[in-house]
Amino acid sequence: MTITKLAAGNWKMNGTSKHLSEAKTLAAMHPASSVEVLLCPPATLLASMARIVLGSAVQLGGQDCHAKAKGAHTGDIAAEMLFDAGAGYVILGHSERRADHGETSADVAAKVEAAWDSGLVAIVCLGETEAQRDADETLAVIGAQLAQSLPAGANAENTVIAYEPVWAIGTGRTPSEAQIAEVHAFLREHAPDAGVRLLYGGSVNPDNAASIFAIANVDGALVGGASLKAADFTRIISALESSSPG
Ligand code: PGA
Repeated sequence: MTITKLAAGNWKMNGTSKHLSEAKTLAAMHPASSVEVLLCPPATLLASMARIVLGSAVQLGGQDCHAKAKGAHTGDIAAEMLFDAGAGYVILGHSERRADHGETSADVAAKVEAAWDSGLVAIVCLGETEAQRDADETLAVIGAQLAQSLPAGANAENTVIAYEPVWAIGTGRTPSEAQIAEVHAFLREHAPDAGVRLLYGGSVNPDNAASIFAIANVDGALVGGASLKAADFTRIISALESSSPG
């Protein structure tokens, strides 16, 4: 089976209109690509970024959506609004949302349904804390998150899974290659569909990307800090383009 790899950038709560120039540079560097290239900026930038990346390989995604399609939910954003602004993807269940907003895996599953209903591909994030890894609970935690965060009907077209160890996010620390390989083999075995893309996320940078992409069952990356600058992100995209086919 051929899997189209995916390099996804998560800008988190970073970026105003002056940072659109980074998207412009990225789009200019990637008129086409053998992998999928995705930027997930703050929702406020989606519509203007959509105009900038039009005609390039760069696609757009949101960072969260509400489980309901519309209604009295001040400050929240519906999946259809992301789609309308130019998104094709949405990140759901990021550990920062699970921690900052108390999102449970059941909440995430409801959001995934909402994303699908609006035609978005859900990038569902899973990952253990450092305490859970130290207690040898990693695969149990990942297994439970996977089972509870993905509704029935998840498949390779509508869902991407991102393994993001909480302790590796924004810390400059990454798991060993064996640790990533172990979790990704587990995810491949338990994913609802053999073709579901499995991303690694957590302190991916231009220097470590190639070795991470060489690990079995790693189909791309979800990149935070190193996606903010086109010059850095493009080196990660190049490493993915040069990695062996999935
Ligand atoms: P990081 O973030 O690359 O800055 O560690 C990754 C993520 O949270 O998606």
